[in-house]
Amino acid sequence: MKFEQIHTIGILGGGVMGGGIAQVLAVAGYDVVVRDLTEEIVQQTKDAIFESRWGMKRAVEVGKLPFDRAVEAIPRITVTTDLNALKDVDFLIEAVPERLDLKQRVFKELDELVNKDAIFVSNTSGFPIVDCQRDVSEARKPLFGGMHFSNPVPTMKMCEVISTPLTSADTVEAIKGVAEKAGKVAIMVKDQPGSYGFILNRVFAAARREAEAIVDAGLATPEDVDRAMITGRNWPAGFFGERGGIGKQW
Ligand SMILES: NC(=O)c1ccc[n+]([C@@H]2O[C@H](COP(=O)([O-])OP(=O)(O)OC[C@H]3O[C@@H](n4cnc5c(N)ncnc54)[C@H](O)[C@@H]3O)[C@@H](O)[C@H]2O)c1
Repeated sequence: MKFEQIHTIGILGGGVMGGGIAQVLAVAGYDVVVRDLTEEIVQQTKDAIFESRWGMKRAVEVGKLPFDRAVEAIPRITVTTDLNALKDVDFLIEAVPERLDLKQRVFKELDELVNKDAIFVSNTSGFPIVDCQRDVSEARKPLFGGMHFSNPVPTMKMCEVISTPLTSADTVEAIKGVAEKAGKVAIMVKDQPGSYGFILNRVFAAARREAEAIVDAGLATPEDVDRAMITGRNWPAGFFGERGGIGKQW
C-alpha cells in the first residue's frame, strides 16, 4: 500500500491517544474509523474529540482550527464497538493500553480480519516493533511499523516513524506521509529489539533519572532542577510538575 492509496484509517482503541489521533487525521482529510470496547467508551471518545480541552470545538474557539475544516472533518469520523468496521481500512493504528501481550493479541486478530494490503502501525510508547508484530503473518511484516505520536496529539508536533529491518521502503514512506499530512514532524528512527523507547522516551527517561537522582541525593530541590532546565536549556516542561516542580506541564 502506497501513501497515495491511503484514504481510510482505522484506529484500535479510542482512549487518550486514539481519540486525538482520530481528530487530527479527520481534519487532515482521512476517513477515520475508531473501535473501542463499549458504548460508554465510544461516547467518551466522541466527547473527547468534539468537546474536550484539546477537542475540535475548543480548537475552533481559540482560532487553531478553521470552522469549515472542523465541519468537514466531523462526518469523516466513525466511532464504534464493531470490530468488523475495521475490515476495509487502508492503514491501521493500534492504540490500546501499553501491554505487550495485549498488543500481540490484537494485532494477530486484526491481521486475520483486515484487508491484506493494509499497513499496520503501533503507537506504543516504547515496545520494540518486532515484538508487537510477532504474531502477524509473514506477509504483513513488510507492511508493519511504528507511529509514535505525543500527547496531546492535536497540539504536539512530533511523530516518531519506526521501521524494522522487514518494513518495506513504501511502508516507511506511507507512514511518514500520513504523519506529515496530519501536520506532524516525522522523526525517522530504527527499531531496537531488547530496548524500551525510541528517541523521545529514551532521552527523556535518561534525563529524568538524573533529575531524580539529584533531588534524592538532597543536592537541589525539584523546583531548582526544573528552573535550571528552563533557564539553561529552554526546556519549559521541566521534570517534576505537580511533585514540587515549576515546569510548564500540559
Ligand atoms: N497517553 C500518552 O501520553 C501516550 C503518549 C504516546 C503513546 N502512548 C501509547 O498509546 C497507547 C494508548 O495509550 P492511551 O494513553 O491512549 O491509553 P488509554 O487507556 O487512554 O486508551 C486505550 C483504549 O484502548 C481500549 N482498548 C483496550 N482493548 C481494546 C481492544 N481489544 N479493542 C479496542 N479497544 C481496546 C481501552 O478501552 C481504551 O479506551 C499505549 O500504547 C501508550 O503507551 C500514550
